[in-house]
Amino acid sequence: MKMKAVISALAFNVPPDVYDNHWFEQRIETTDEWIKTRTGITERHFAFEGAMTDIALPAAQKVLAQRGITAEDIDCIIIATVTPDRVFPSSSAILQRKLGAKNAWGFDLSAACSGFVFALVTASKLVESGAVRNVLLVGADKMSSILNFEDRATCVLFGDGGGCVLLEPGTDDDHGVMDFILKMDGNGEPNLYQKAGGSLHPPTLETVTNKEHYVFQEGQPVFKAAVKGMADVSYEIMVRNNLTADDIAWLVPHQANLRIIDATANRMGLSKDKVMINIQKFGNTTAGTIPICLSELYEQGKLKRGDYVVIASFGAGYTWGAILYKWWLEPTA
Ligand code: UT7
Repeated sequence: MKMKAVISALAFNVPPDVYDNHWFEQRIETTDEWIKTRTGITERHFAFEGAMTDIALPAAQKVLAQRGITAEDIDCIIIATVTPDRVFPSSSAILQRKLGAKNAWGFDLSAACSGFVFALVTASKLVESGAVRNVLLVGADKMSSILNFEDRATCVLFGDGGGCVLLEPGTDDDHGVMDFILKMDGNGEPNLYQKAGGSLHPPTLETVTNKEHYVFQEGQPVFKAAVKGMADVSYEIMVRNNLTADDIAWLVPHQANLRIIDATANRMGLSKDKVMINIQKFGNTTAGTIPICLSELYEQGKLKRGDYVVIASFGAGYTWGAILYKWWLEPTA
């Protein structure tokens, strides 16, 4: 029988320091009320020192401990992120060193807020092909390193954090990634991007002076594209697998805006109690949102073997997608 890859351990980590909306009120022209009603965010975590892999490392270590394996047992490390420690080498190489996972190869995957979704499909296929036995898959971002804290249109939206899952062959072909829809539209670039820092505009005194190394976003067009994109693929993956809202245990959506999440849930006909939401605590942690959501749900004992979970995202690129994931790991409690 052909085995599917399954998540066999998972954990998340956010930096300890919490910044609530009032913190921003003291620095820029904004209000707690505006941020809460337009986004759903109350607070987020930032680490103004250290690197993205410093956020990922404790999550990865928890995953190893949870599964009862050592770093040397890891075959491959994939990190979905837009805030790698450096342009090169890859953050997966840096995490490999920090963990002591000396038998692992790996790479970084850049798909912004859809990074974890794209990487979960990629990693599952690697395991299912037999090319590797297990993959440590991280979705993490240190958004504070690319935020302009004078730009109220973006700085209030994001947070630092990430999660990690271990993927390995399951016990059957009836759990794991059952179906996926992944999409990309490069026409979205001008609405959500980092203007300088890459090969097109390498860092210069001018790019730094012009604050071009930060997140730039035209909120409204991204909002419209996200509402349509995330709702379309989430609905389609449910329907084309002959499932209804009753069959879905959880929608685990990217946490960019509560209104986008609500639109997706409404389109699927899902009641609110089946939608994982933690944007109020963490903001948008980009590639971190989904593994953080999954880890919180699992810690709370809310994921049971056989549960259908729809995982959905939308982000820069544009990139978006949905995964129908049938949960395998038994609850801890
Ligand atoms: O995760 C990757 C994908 N990203 C997303 O999915 C984000 C999609 N976009 C959004 O979530 C929303 O567009 C935002 C939350 C970014 C913005 O919400 P909005 O309802 O689209 O607001 P807006 O950009 O249309 O701005 C409305 C008003 C503007 O003022 P005027 O022109 O009406 O006077 C803004 O200047 O709100 C103003 N504004 C703010 N006011 C207080 C913008 N940011 C702030 C702020 N505090 N922080």
